[in-house]
Amino acid sequence: MLTPGVDLSGHREVYQDRGLDVGDLADDPVVQFQRWFAEVEAAGYWEPNAVVLATVAADGWPSARNVLLKRVDALGFVFFTNYTSDKATELDADGRAALTFSWTELRRQVRVAGTAERIGVEESDTYWATRPRGSQVGAWASDQSTVVDDRATLEASYVAEEERWAGRDVERPDHWGGYRIRPHRVEFWQGRPDRMHDRLRYRLVEGSWVVERRAP
Ligand SMILES: Cc1cc2nc3c(=O)[nH]c(=O)nc-3n(C[C@H](O)[C@H](O)[C@H](O)COP(=O)(O)O)c2cc1C
Repeated sequence: MLTPGVDLSGHREVYQDRGLDVGDLADDPVVQFQRWFAEVEAAGYWEPNAVVLATVAADGWPSARNVLLKRVDALGFVFFTNYTSDKATELDADGRAALTFSWTELRRQVRVAGTAERIGVEESDTYWATRPRGSQVGAWASDQSTVVDDRATLEASYVAEEERWAGRDVERPDHWGGYRIRPHRVEFWQGRPDRMHDRLRYRLVEGSWVVERRAP
């Protein structure tokens, strides 16, 4: 039997006419990102740092999932994960990556394309130290991306790790740390009425950022 479809076409987009022009942009896309991010935070978003990370699997399939952006600086965009997970295996084998931030309430999207590299262990240690203890234990308890028999197995693994670390600091596993995506393209999209949206893309050309407007 065919699963009945659900018609979502009744959702109507409403765009305020707040534009984005080349003259509004910072010279550096990371600075521009930080400006937009401050506005998204001020708008009261729940997890404004949630971002879809796309990687390339060994068989060529694209693979995408959310991660939480934890840092953005002159070098790029940083998130943390398990280094034995699918995403990490894919990034280590083929560093090409894309990030998509969707801030639909503000009619905004930012797309980043770049190359991924593992961050230094000191940088991972620093962030690890700020994690709640429960998340630290959880990082030991879960072999991210592997198949698990059932929920009970996972919970038993958590309890075992909790006992192992009882009464002492939980060390960062060697297989847990950060990646930095070094951007070579960053596109800012601002929704405008009548589909006449603004799309401004920074492209790295011989070490300098070139900005181009693209058709929406
Ligand atoms: C909003 C949100 C944020 C997430 N943040 C992270 C994160 O920062 N790091 C992480 O490893 N997984 C995060 N996850 C879980 C991933 O989406 C994913 O399920 C997990 O990392 C395994 O992905 P993989 O098997 O492709 O490696 C998050 C999920 C959601 C919904």
